[in-house]
Amino acid sequence: MRRNDRTGFFDWSLTWALAFILAASSLVLVAGDAAPDRVPSLVTWTPETIVAASSGDAFRGMLLAKRCDHCHGSEGFSPVTSTPNLAGISALAIWKQLEDFRAHKRRSRAMEPIAESLSARDVEDVVSYYAKLPIYPDPQDNRVFPQGQPSSSRAALASRLVTFGDGDRGIPPCQACHGPVAYKIGVPSLANQNGDYVLDELEGFASGTRANDINQPMRIIAALLSEDERHALAEYYGAGLGLQPAGSTAKK
Ligand code: HEC
Ligand code: HEC
Repeated sequence: MRRNDRTGFFDWSLTWALAFILAASSLVLVAGDAAPDRVPSLVTWTPETIVAASSGDAFRGMLLAKRCDHCHGSEGFSPVTSTPNLAGISALAIWKQLEDFRAHKRRSRAMEPIAESLSARDVEDVVSYYAKLPIYPDPQDNRVFPQGQPSSSRAALASRLVTFGDGDRGIPPCQACHGPVAYKIGVPSLANQNGDYVLDELEGFASGTRANDINQPMRIIAALLSEDERHALAEYYGAGLGLQPAGSTAKK
């Protein structure tokens, strides 16, 4: 009797085990199909990737950057407000974006083919060059930065979000990750970024057309902002107000 019971138990558990394995493997198959879209970036921050992204040859990068001048400007300041400035932005931040374009994790008709034509070493070198470019004004180039000053009420609206965020909605202050208070690893400075570009990226994160942010901080934050706030933030950064400590214009 005992023996039979045992056999019964084993039969029963074997059936369940089989059912479980079948269910689990179909889940893996489903996950396998969907996985490419759920992975925001192939970049992970490890000591190795950080060293690779920071050890490029800036001189070789300067030669490669001749291919980029036309759109990003010879001094790393672009001639149109919808194209990002690259001067002085941390090598890690630009490196991640180029790797994401190369892997098609960040979509861009302009940048995907260009980034794909670069080798891993080219990317390291070119980011090293742009990161070292100074951000002070140069009368020789045709930069459009900074753009016009927003009204003081628009500046104050943006400045509050940059300095304090909005605790009620769970929005952290922009400057806690983008500087000048603190720079999180791989986060681009916005202090010398063009307004229309900032707006395009905020809209892209909010709608999910840009989805390469690891752990989704920007998709969440941009979607919590109102349309008006996204515009005010773009005007704020585009006018160069991010270069000064935000506290100077913010009222809580
Ligand atoms: C035809 C114009 C064009 C050329 C040439 C070009 N870019 Fe871009 N780049 C863009 C545009 C436009 C964007 C913004 C992304 C978008 O909306 O497509 C961009 C975005 C980027 C970004 C992301 C910046 C950020 O802050 O996230 C990096 C990095 C970059 N480009 C590097 C380069 C490098 C390096 C080269 C040369 C090897 C280059 N680009 C050549 C137009 C160009
Ligand atoms: C918790 C950290 C964090 C906070 C807070 C934060 N960001 Fe970001 N932001 C990021 C990260 C990380 C990226 C880079 C995403 C990626 O890897 O492509 C980013 C990217 C961006 C970009 C694209 C920049 C570029 O050059 O491509 C914009 C614009 C931006 N953030 C605006 C804002 C604004 C405005 C706020 C405040 C309302 C804000 N962020 C708050 C982490 C943050």
